[in-house]
Amino acid sequence: MFLTDSYNRPVTNLRISLTARCNLKCKYCHREGEVSPKDEMSLDDISEILKTAAKFNMNSVKLTGGEPTMRKDIVDIIHSVPKSMEASMTTNGTLLAPIAQDLKDAGLSRVNISIDSLNREKYKEISGLDYLPRVLDGIDAAIDANLTPVKLNVVLLKDFNENEIEDFISYAGKKKDVILQFIELMDLNSDEKKSQIHSLEEDLEKRAKTIITRRMHHRKKYCIEGAEVEIVRPMHNNEFCAFCNRLRVTSDGELKPCLLRHDNHINIKGKRGAELESLFELAVSKREPFFK
Ligand code: 5AD
Repeated sequence: MFLTDSYNRPVTNLRISLTARCNLKCKYCHREGEVSPKDEMSLDDISEILKTAAKFNMNSVKLTGGEPTMRKDIVDIIHSVPKSMEASMTTNGTLLAPIAQDLKDAGLSRVNISIDSLNREKYKEISGLDYLPRVLDGIDAAIDANLTPVKLNVVLLKDFNENEIEDFISYAGKKKDVILQFIELMDLNSDEKKSQIHSLEEDLEKRAKTIITRRMHHRKKYCIEGAEVEIVRPMHNNEFCAFCNRLRVTSDGELKPCLLRHDNHINIKGKRGAELESLFELAVSKREPFFK
């Protein structure tokens, strides 16, 4: 059984938000579309959803939040991922160092770690907490535990971290198995804080020794001074939608057919077996590109 939507997009990747809670307060955060903390799914709910996804031959799952490591049962959740699915996690890295090896042993393959500044004061300014040293430890622990490639998520913000691009490239270049991802700010309401991501793209294009075009998402990877750099542009790239292979689940158990829409969720909390399967199919039938 495979899931394909009415725009011929195969749905192979599940993203589950494990909690809406987060220990940081990043100013720009879209919170994966989660507005207020609600009842979280149980380990049982989550493993049932994962089993259903595996039945539909979905081959990867991304665990997100909120901050997924805030869940006390995070290791058990990873254990419950079916062997046919690759599990990765997006984390702020602040709680990662002590559990990185446990996560790997439980079957997690790799992590994305959010880090918007390498400057301690600025990190504190954007995230509300003085946790940069913890994040840097988290990155090293993830590399040591082979949660690789470790992707560093840097949301580019105008007049905030644009002057740190070179610092990020040199930091990433010194680490092994790290991919640096510069992410375009998603803000449906304003263009104000948006950085000049387009000129960064042109600049990388000129400087890169090697450019690899990844077929998936048609995303380019630039190799610069020992660092692998990618640019993610959710807002200015129709391909973001055209190549979307994702189905999301909110932390309170709703299937979410599109990151950018909040009016077509389908409640699956506590649902099991055949009923859950048909709700997956219903959610896929509601998928529609946001940018056409
Ligand atoms: N625009 C772009 N990326 C965002 N993230 C959170 N909010 C936004 C936004 N408004 C990214 C964070 C994190 C990932 C989970 O989502 O950088 O790495």
